[in-house]
Amino acid sequence: MKICVLGLGYVGAVSCGCLAALGHTVVGVDIAKPKVDRIKRGESPIIEEGLAEILRKAVDEGRLSATTDTNAALQDADMALVCVGTPSTPTGGVNSIYLERVCEQIADAVKTNTGKFLAVLNRSTSLPHVHRKLQEILEQHTGEKLGTNVGYVCHPEFLREGAAVYDFYNPPKIVYGATDPKSEELCTQLYPGIEAETFFVSPDIAAMVKYADNCFHAVKVTFGNEIGMLCKGFDIDGHAVMDIFCADHKLNISPKYLKPGFAFGGSCLPKDLRAVLDASRDLAAPMPMLSGTMKSNVVQVESVFKRIGSDRPKLGVIGLAFKEGTDDIRESPMVTLVELATGKGLPVHIYDQHLAVQALVGANKSFALQSIPHLANLLSDDLDGVIKDSDVIVVAHRLTPEAWASVQWRDDQRIIDLVNVEALHNQPNYDGLYW
Ligand SMILES: NC(=O)c1ccc[n+]([C@@H]2O[C@H](COP(=O)([O-])OP(=O)(O)OC[C@H]3O[C@@H](n4cnc5c(N)ncnc54)[C@H](O)[C@@H]3O)[C@@H](O)[C@H]2O)c1
Repeated sequence: MKICVLGLGYVGAVSCGCLAALGHTVVGVDIAKPKVDRIKRGESPIIEEGLAEILRKAVDEGRLSATTDTNAALQDADMALVCVGTPSTPTGGVNSIYLERVCEQIADAVKTNTGKFLAVLNRSTSLPHVHRKLQEILEQHTGEKLGTNVGYVCHPEFLREGAAVYDFYNPPKIVYGATDPKSEELCTQLYPGIEAETFFVSPDIAAMVKYADNCFHAVKVTFGNEIGMLCKGFDIDGHAVMDIFCADHKLNISPKYLKPGFAFGGSCLPKDLRAVLDASRDLAAPMPMLSGTMKSNVVQVESVFKRIGSDRPKLGVIGLAFKEGTDDIRESPMVTLVELATGKGLPVHIYDQHLAVQALVGANKSFALQSIPHLANLLSDDLDGVIKDSDVIVVAHRLTPEAWASVQWRDDQRIIDLVNVEALHNQPNYDGLYW
């Protein structure tokens, strides 16, 4: 393919060299002439291991050139790879000015080119609303619907500076969010021979994946540092602790606990997090992220309570225990939700298949009596009855498809689903927690 790489910074320079090495014909474009001149001479505009040799070879073999003339570079191109910067605005937002300008330039070129279809792949990190605006710019400036003579793909970049060439050939994944089938087809020809799990999704999802990644990486660094700080306070080697932590691929370095769902609770997480925060105060080792975790958990419960509404609906709660398959209600966020609801005078009915007040014992029983003294009056073992008596139903346990099939719903009932029950997705007033 003929690929035009717009922006010759860290992402663009690596893309130019490595795509040319894969056999494509590449033209690099930048508004900064010194960068263009360096590429033309086969020199790297950035310090990046292995890149200088790759660029020199690509230029020598005639597969890589560079220019400041965007329009000329885009003539006959199959693909425009947008790699311009997306710095922060003064309030921290995405400054999309360079992206908008580049999309206008691309649209101008498309209007005057030979009529060949051009796929615009945006590698610059930007939020979904920015991608939508860029799609609008392309449509407005070309006067055509996307997919006609120009298409748009959100194609986030995952390389790490310092290991960028290695990451190009060994990406952790490849994600394409294309608006049209012609662009999607061209995407399949972009990385011949490179093996990575590849995802074709919507542009919005592709955009958010990149932010989820970077937020997670930031959280991982901070988590390691906060645990390290606590270890240092106890005169323990933080690396020795985290080496074992990282060796656990079942619960720690794994998808466990990472799918959006309701707040955490139970007899361990809140208690042990409190202990760590208490120790951090004693050791004068502040842990803003972990203490923020407690606050964030409260926000989860409060935001679900807000969604129930202020018109004093009758509330049905499906599942009170902190997770399904147990009768442990200690520090269950559902108990907090019920406390909030009853405190505001909402009538509440609860169905929990494993919960019988007479069967509760020990700390679980004390917690139940302390938090919801009238629990016995709210609990029912009749799922259909609880739902019949409710205007809003908050679902915290999945139950079985057969159990849901036995329920008679009314069209006016609202469902707030905290656990993603597929059997409920088609109900008229269904509201998934984060889906
Ligand atoms: N640097 C990284 O490690 C990395 C990794 C993944 C994703 N990203 C994302 O990729 C994007 C690019 O990052 P970068 O570090 O390569 O940026 P950079 O600032 O190093 O380079 C951007 C280049 O775009 C050029 N440019 C601006 N407007 C232009 C235009 N109209 N036409 C042609 N060129 C133009 C600039 O002159 C500059 O050389 C950003 O959105 C960034 O968040 C960066």
